[in-house]
Amino acid sequence: MKFSAIVDSLQEDLARVDARVRRAAEVEYPVLGEILSAIVSSGGKRLRPVLLLLAARAYDYDIEPLIPAAAGVEMLHTASLVHDDTIDRALLRRGQPTLNSVFNSGTVILIGDYLFAQSAILAAETMNPRVVSVFASTLADICDGQLREIFTAHRIDQTREDYERRIYGKTASLFAGAAEMGALIGNADESAVTALRAFGADVGMAFQIVDDVLDLQASTDTIGKPANLDLRQGTVTLPTMLYLSRVNGDDSHVQRVVDGNGVTDEEYSRVATLIQESGAIEEAMDAARSYVDRAVARLSIIPDREVQQQLEAFANLALHRGY
Ligand code: IPE
Ligand code: IPE
Ligand code: MG
Ligand code: MG
Repeated sequence: MKFSAIVDSLQEDLARVDARVRRAAEVEYPVLGEILSAIVSSGGKRLRPVLLLLAARAYDYDIEPLIPAAAGVEMLHTASLVHDDTIDRALLRRGQPTLNSVFNSGTVILIGDYLFAQSAILAAETMNPRVVSVFASTLADICDGQLREIFTAHRIDQTREDYERRIYGKTASLFAGAAEMGALIGNADESAVTALRAFGADVGMAFQIVDDVLDLQASTDTIGKPANLDLRQGTVTLPTMLYLSRVNGDDSHVQRVVDGNGVTDEEYSRVATLIQESGAIEEAMDAARSYVDRAVARLSIIPDREVQQQLEAFANLALHRGY
């Protein structure tokens, strides 16, 4: 099953979710209004709302709280990207110039905060205190992951656990939260809520590992955001860690590019090529595949066969996405 088939089956609900996201991003200031509306309409994949809707569909769901919840997770994601691009000093997102390429960082942080507030308003509209609680702890987890990334930057002595903990925070927690919120609104029983949360977490881990692979491998044109940025900002990701484990302590060239002082474009490309040719990419993809396998194994608890297959296809998409 293709992702487009899943999106087709959710089309009506997703159109309502999109309308809510657009409305929540409306502001009356000049320039900013158009830029924000361009950002929310510029072709984000809408993965988190899709996951939330699918998790609810497996059960006896009420559509009314589902729409603001799905819009809320997309808005939370969008707000975190606005802050992420400011932290990363990235100038391109979804093929469009970022807010931080237009405004100073103080302004962009406030715009991000405004979008975070909008996402909280949407979560509160579900009138479900457990959903609001998941939402709040997810936001804390995202900040935790991003802070860990900042505080471990430029260091090649990190463990796999350090890496997993920070990608759980910055990315997998929102997949986990989206699946959990969907299951809660769907009135799934506790064991299914737990299983769906764990499913989302595993898919999110795979998704970020693949993102880290794409950062090293893909071109800016394909991913619509700057490629090769992780090394340049000193973020040590799984492929780099796996490469380091193959160099028998001969790691000074990696330390140099991760430090970033006076590193030339050629040096960055050379290290990226060394990583690509070392087998580390394949090993990282194997790790992502293990997460997806574990996620899929959790789906046996889902009573509805069709939704089970859709969630399985969703999990596999994490591995086969081109951007
Ligand atoms: C990008 O997420 C941020 C990461 C967690 C890697 P997506 O790839 O889902 O971004 P959009 O919404 O489709 O642009
Ligand atoms: C994901 O990390 C950031 C968030 C979850 C906000 P990245 O920094 O790798 O995401 P991209 O590559 O910019 O989309
Ligand atoms: Mg980034
Ligand atoms: Mg990335």
